[in-house]
Amino acid sequence: MTPDGVRSGDVVVSGGRVVAVGETGGRRGTADGVRSGGVVVSDGKIVPADREARRVIDARGAYVLPGLIDSHVHFRTPGLTHKEDWPHGSRAAVAGGVTTVMDMPNTVPPTLSPEAVLAKAELVAGTSLVDYAFHVGADPDRPELLADIDPGVAVSAKVFMAGHHTAPTVVRDPGQLDKIFAAAAAGRVRLVLHAEDDAVYALLDRWRGAPVRHRDYERYRPRTGPISAVAQVVRLVERHGTAAHVLHLSTAEEADLVTAARAAGLPVTFELTGHHLSFTDVDTRRLGAKTRLAPAIRQRADQDRLWEAVRLGEVSSLGSDHAPHTTEEKCRPVPDAPPGLPGVQELATAVWTGMRERWPDESPDVAMTRLVRHLAEEPAALFGLRGKGRLEIGADGDLVVFEPDHRWLFSARDVRAKCGWSAYEGWTMAGRVRTTVRRGEIVWDADTGTFGSPTGHWVR
Ligand code: DOR
Ligand code: ZN
Repeated sequence: MTPDGVRSGDVVVSGGRVVAVGETGGRRGTADGVRSGGVVVSDGKIVPADREARRVIDARGAYVLPGLIDSHVHFRTPGLTHKEDWPHGSRAAVAGGVTTVMDMPNTVPPTLSPEAVLAKAELVAGTSLVDYAFHVGADPDRPELLADIDPGVAVSAKVFMAGHHTAPTVVRDPGQLDKIFAAAAAGRVRLVLHAEDDAVYALLDRWRGAPVRHRDYERYRPRTGPISAVAQVVRLVERHGTAAHVLHLSTAEEADLVTAARAAGLPVTFELTGHHLSFTDVDTRRLGAKTRLAPAIRQRADQDRLWEAVRLGEVSSLGSDHAPHTTEEKCRPVPDAPPGLPGVQELATAVWTGMRERWPDESPDVAMTRLVRHLAEEPAALFGLRGKGRLEIGADGDLVVFEPDHRWLFSARDVRAKCGWSAYEGWTMAGRVRTTVRRGEIVWDADTGTFGSPTGHWVR
């Protein structure tokens, strides 16, 4: 019970455009799941719309979306909490309409075993406003662990194929990589891959040294890195039948290759990030270390191809790769400035802003259906999160009231991530997350700037 007698977890959202994806939704330019109406949540679950609830949220003029899912965040616990922590990261998430996150294993120590995941879960319990799940790290020295991963402990196993400042356990040896793919296939665990070819970068570093200006960074981590690595991934998927999800594609060639492999029947899918969709090398000249990322931000032609992958529904998930570093770390001399930016808060609005700019003539219902497909329904299906990603009776009462036409200036004051900066400062965002509800509890209200309580659950 709350002080006013309303049972917590009871809420009705009325008068909005409710977005369920439907059969073909988003793909082929359809919006068959969008309807006018409301959603009722009781005891944290979505119930039939004829029920009553005392707390009413007026969603007139707005969309009602399922709570969004960010399957790629680095909330930095344990060991790197000077960069980010769950109280800040999860507040950034709900301010961006995200109600479930999947956290990455490159912490200190790294999360390389089921025991390490359980230890992390204990640290996270009671500190998160959002629900969460974990990716375990693939240990190059113990690939056999992957043959026996409990899906209730880890939704996937993460492989880093290239090294950088925060990649602790890089799989450089092709023999080890082969064993990881074989063990994951045997254990029916999905691999999520940071696919860049470390050998390519090692050669360049040996002969060219490190970049001295941020604007040169892309040439030191060029497109051959991810393209070569994705080719290796596709061959290993073909050999072992392992389910593989390639993270943060940055080039046109990767999108072509993964799409062709998938069309040929291989179980390979991919993610696109908000930042590869939002920035090009032209922006990186201005933004410097803020848009230093692994993989690097590339050219306009690549960005066009990535957006095409959204329009055609080739992409599966949109992720933020929320990976904050402090201002002090980002201001280090160029070779030492770590790659990564905060993004869980900006993801949905930045993607929406990009959609409206790129496709001004597309029906907003169709565009929003695409967004919900890749930011809710598909990540829930890919990683097996039951009760998430869809507005349907019996599902968790996670939802977002999203104002599609609210234009506003995003500034450093809006940033909820612990690092306090954003590459999106100065952007005019098209669309705003007005209210975020997680299991029936209002966890973010933009009009008052207030947050709910850290009662997020581990989704197992
Ligand atoms: O830019 C990146 N930063 N890419 C990654 O893969 C990891 C991340 C981090 O952890 O900082
Ligand atoms: Zn990442």
